[in-house]
Amino acid sequence: MAGKPAKPFLKWAGGKTQLIGVIEKALPKNIAHTNYTYIEPFVGSGAVLFWVLNNFPNLKKAIINDINKDLINTYKTIASRPSELISILQILQNEYHSLEGNEDNKKLYYYQKRELYNSRKETQSGQAALFIFLNRTCFNGLYRVNRKNEYNVPMGSYKKPTICDQENILAVSEALQKVEILCGDFEHTLEYADNNTLFYFDPPYKPLSETSSFNSYAKDEFNDNEQVRLKEFCSKLDMLNHTWILSNSDVKGKDENDNFFDNLYSDFNIQRVEAKRNINANPEKRGKLKELLITNQVNSKNYVRAI
Ligand SMILES: C[S@@+](CC[C@H](N)C(=O)[O-])C[C@H]1O[C@@H](n2cnc3c(N)ncnc32)[C@H](O)[C@@H]1O
Repeated sequence: MAGKPAKPFLKWAGGKTQLIGVIEKALPKNIAHTNYTYIEPFVGSGAVLFWVLNNFPNLKKAIINDINKDLINTYKTIASRPSELISILQILQNEYHSLEGNEDNKKLYYYQKRELYNSRKETQSGQAALFIFLNRTCFNGLYRVNRKNEYNVPMGSYKKPTICDQENILAVSEALQKVEILCGDFEHTLEYADNNTLFYFDPPYKPLSETSSFNSYAKDEFNDNEQVRLKEFCSKLDMLNHTWILSNSDVKGKDENDNFFDNLYSDFNIQRVEAKRNINANPEKRGKLKELLITNQVNSKNYVRAI
């Protein structure tokens, strides 16, 4: 591969970069040598996707999906119009950086761009550029919308953030050429599965407390019923002989009597792994937390039964 490998082009709540090591150990052993199809139904910033694409060039194909239309529009734009996107991002970056030192003007600029983004009147590339601009300049890289699908995260306090990472956008564009990009509910990815398919699920996590709710990436909430619907989908995949790996929060770490996931996935392999979460408004809470890695592979190297 020429140049640097593609990496996530967004900051995203629940980014999986730090869990790659444990996910790697849970992968099917023959993935490097067999023509696997890789499906990621909740792609977000795609940390696992890019790692898989960089490390398994043999992959037959990859399919990514997310319910967030604006996120998927950005993926599609990077895949098909990287140069146009880069030109717009360069303008946004130059304009924003030229305001450095003048907080009032910087704020004005940020909120004007946020309003423009929410009008959703720009071209496909213009919307994608605004999506990346907001992600790079907003508070903590959050993506949060209200019921009307209006992005409402305030400005962050970064000095001269990189808004246009040209080299990575080109690398991502190249990597996405073998990826089918879908927008919708996770269940419709099933029709893209064939023999030797690996699904990696990173759904919105079940919140550890009422206030730690970072699961509002889209205007509809991913509540407990949704978690149950996802488990039912996983059981269906298991019956169809597809392999899957799923991440979620370890609610038991917060309340040892909370057996929600242990009960829900009692038929599968549950592993507790350490994870450092970066997106937390309160720096004191950015410590180490346990997360769950669940798989339907009986021989997963890391297999540890839930305690
Ligand atoms: C935890 S994030 C994924 C994090 C990602 N793997 C990463 O590395 O950054 C969960 C994603 O699920 C998406 N989502 C929420 N409900 C969904 C649904 N019903 N079907 C598909 N995607 C959904 C959200 O838009 C969000 O991008």
